[in-house]
Amino acid sequence: MRLILVGPPGAGKGTQAVQLAKHYKIPHISTGDIFRANLKGGTDLGKLAKSYMDKGELVPDSVTNEMVRDRFKQSDVQSGFLLDGFPRNILQAEELSKILNESNLKLDYVLELQIENSEIVRRLSGRRTCKECGAIFHIEFDQPKIENKCDKCGGTLYQREDDKESVVMNRLEVYAEQTKPIIDYYRKFGLLKQMSAVGSVSTITAAAISILS
Ligand code: AP5
Ligand code: MG
Repeated sequence: MRLILVGPPGAGKGTQAVQLAKHYKIPHISTGDIFRANLKGGTDLGKLAKSYMDKGELVPDSVTNEMVRDRFKQSDVQSGFLLDGFPRNILQAEELSKILNESNLKLDYVLELQIENSEIVRRLSGRRTCKECGAIFHIEFDQPKIENKCDKCGGTLYQREDDKESVVMNRLEVYAEQTKPIIDYYRKFGLLKQMSAVGSVSTITAAAISILS
């Protein structure tokens, strides 16, 4: 399976990506997670990315595209992949086509997760993320067994800087202006599948697998 997950911030891309990557036994490639890992490691890339992420702006294409190009040099993508958070504009989508062509890989599907803005705000304001492994929880919808501790690795949970309401609003605008156009772009190639992102996590995973089969 060679898949792109697209949808607004808080749609549940990361949550579903973990389930779908397990189901299809493919690597989960999240550009947001790679930036956050760099930030944690104190790299120059992490510092640069932070200056954009904290405002809800896109990290420049030159940086992001190079990072994805590098990731596709790893051999695990040959058995399939799930892209989460990339591409995020038309230029990135065109760059991805080049990267895939060079590796003789073809996309199977682009799956759009659809959700209302009011639900997004609820999801993002209650999200908690593990500092160590990046696992995603929610204070109401997906509570960890022990408060503020990750079920998977025991790491401390934190609230992402960009989940503050003012930043969320900008992320939604950036999504509408820059990312939404890629949906039509992929529709023209006949790759687009769309589904509601509302319901329990397991219901949505099952529906996604059925749509993609
Ligand atoms: P990124 O990390 O990709 O953030 P995003 O796209 O804004 O998406 P989120 O991670 O916020 O939401 P999600 O859809 O993954 O939802 P989640 O599963 O966590 O990017 C962050 C920043 O990095 C960007 O703003 C940009 O600066 C930079 N960046 C990244 N990629 C880039 C690129 N390609 N180009 C340039 N810059 C880039 O779920 C949200 C919450 O809801 C969780 O708490 C979860 O538990 C809960 N939840 C999930 N599913 C359900 C459900 N079914 N019911 C109830 N609650 C649910
Ligand atoms: Mg995510």
